[in-house]
Amino acid sequence: IDIAVHASGGNDTTRMPYGLMHEDINNAGDGGIYAELINNRAFQGSDLYPSNLTGWSPINGARLSLKTLSTPLSSALPVSLNVAVSNSTSRTAGFINSGYWGIEVKKQEYKGSFYVRGTYEGSFTASLQSAITNETFGAVKVKSKTSADDWVQHEFTLVPKIDAPNSNNTFAITFDPERVSGGSLDFNLISLFPPTYKGRANGLRMDIAEAFAELQPKFLRFPGGNALEGPSLKYPWLWNETIGPLKDRPGRPGAWNYETSDGLGLVEYLHWCDDLGLEPILAIYSGLALDGGYVNESDFQWVIDSALDELEFITGDPSTPWGAIRESLGESAWTINYVEIGNEDWLAGAPSGFESYQTYRFPLLMQAILAKYPSMQIINSGSFYETPAIPAPAIGDYHPYREPDNFYNEFHKLDNLTADNLTIVGEFASVHVNGGSDWDGDLYKFPWWLGGVAEAIFMIGNERNGDRVLGATYAPALRNMNRWQWSVCLIEFEADTSKTTLSTSWHVFHLFSTHTITHTFPTSPEANTTSLFWVAGSREGYEGQEDSGLVVKMANYNTTNHEDTPVSLSFEEVESGQEAHLTLLTSSEGPWGYNGPYTGSNVVVETKSVVKASGNGTFSWVMPEWSVAVLELGGS
Ligand code: AHR
Repeated sequence: IDIAVHASGGNDTTRMPYGLMHEDINNAGDGGIYAELINNRAFQGSDLYPSNLTGWSPINGARLSLKTLSTPLSSALPVSLNVAVSNSTSRTAGFINSGYWGIEVKKQEYKGSFYVRGTYEGSFTASLQSAITNETFGAVKVKSKTSADDWVQHEFTLVPKIDAPNSNNTFAITFDPERVSGGSLDFNLISLFPPTYKGRANGLRMDIAEAFAELQPKFLRFPGGNALEGPSLKYPWLWNETIGPLKDRPGRPGAWNYETSDGLGLVEYLHWCDDLGLEPILAIYSGLALDGGYVNESDFQWVIDSALDELEFITGDPSTPWGAIRESLGESAWTINYVEIGNEDWLAGAPSGFESYQTYRFPLLMQAILAKYPSMQIINSGSFYETPAIPAPAIGDYHPYREPDNFYNEFHKLDNLTADNLTIVGEFASVHVNGGSDWDGDLYKFPWWLGGVAEAIFMIGNERNGDRVLGATYAPALRNMNRWQWSVCLIEFEADTSKTTLSTSWHVFHLFSTHTITHTFPTSPEANTTSLFWVAGSREGYEGQEDSGLVVKMANYNTTNHEDTPVSLSFEEVESGQEAHLTLLTSSEGPWGYNGPYTGSNVVVETKSVVKASGNGTFSWVMPEWSVAVLELGGS
């Protein structure tokens, strides 16, 4: 195929083509990117998932029970752990926590704390040990500051002497039963953090945040997904219950069949944006629940007030009530340019839930926000495909979860967007195999190469329209391999960070997201043949990058006879002898290859080469069947 890239025409892009999306699904938050190591640290529960002792067990005859005391740690955390030791005959007794399916122990600094109520004259021991052999890897004495009737916080730093051989480890707190008055002590909010990304207190798990940072994303859409909606109207994601000291966060049942701590709350999301340099795309609750329930118009004022309070909390001057609360938490104002109202309101509870979104939930929220913040870009939670009449000045949000062939067949779908109907792609992924059973069947077991190539075709379609598609993000991003609801993700992980797996889709996304096109150029032929798809453009002065460059992104799907596709590509104004860098991704195991966790294998083969322009300024190379590539001229 001969392709000519023209040096004039085309469009400037939004300059934020790729981002991240986060919600607590697959234990992506608790037990995932939120670095807390203690599972069920504050016994949070609800009528859906009542408080329980998951993760906890006694040591040396201690008896563990949950109590709802008349003087709880806080109204948000009413349930605590009673540790009765009157029957213990040992010199130490206490309890262990098994973490989120294990705890990785390394020779590094762990910061911990716990609250105790009761009388104990002695020292506690906080320790990390093997769950199999009981070998202690590190321990620290914490002098008791207890008081009979008050909850007293104890803090400690624990540095193990050695790295544990695996993550099958536990955390323990023990103490001397003989020095306890009244036979028992009450504990709550027992917390342990390893070093976090950029050293943030209450921060992000390092390896996962680093894998995100490597993608050089430009925005973060949060919190959800369905997590924003909550399982029912009783349990929306209420931003004001996710801020402030951890002891004031009640947590809630999430949308994905488990209780969430809300330790990763609104401020932590904004820190995440700060630390990775991301534009926040703030999703606000729109009064819809995942079970289809929605807030009636006569009761809707609290939803509007909550949204305005949230924006005042994030952006407001310290002289405003919520701005003052933010300042009291030690945080300066953030800027919010994008607000998405709800999540997929066209889906849950349609038709009447969707009708309520169109008739009052969306318009009332948009009007109220724009009246106070006229320059914020409002995003409707549906795209122009589900919601043809998105009221101006809002833009849409398109969520294609597709079979690979759908992405292939719908390559030109976004070409129809006009300047009046911009969109973000707040979620996308290849999820079912071709000819799969659509939403009635299971998702494919892992992201697979064929799906990744189809995602590349979809991304090329977005980038061709990069002046009207604000940016795109894959979802969901994370999957804890010990408890998950959604199998196709960018990154799979468990407690042992050496087992973190970057999926085939991560590699495709990475190749495209790290090569930003800031201006697209027209090409002849325009964009594709039957198997080959491409977008061309330039990258100039982008975020401090002084260099400029020409960039071509390409994907080759299935070819007629499984043959390679030779490419000859000429840029106007490129002279012969100029060099371009080609990065080609293929799969060592063909279209069905995937990066399975636990094996450490990576089926994605990255081949880098330098391609020289021939006499007439033409670069030539070969795109194998099922391949993805970036050619870059200038830059590195
Ligand atoms: O990404 C998983 C789910 O898919 C999201 O929570 C929801 O928005 C979409 O339907």
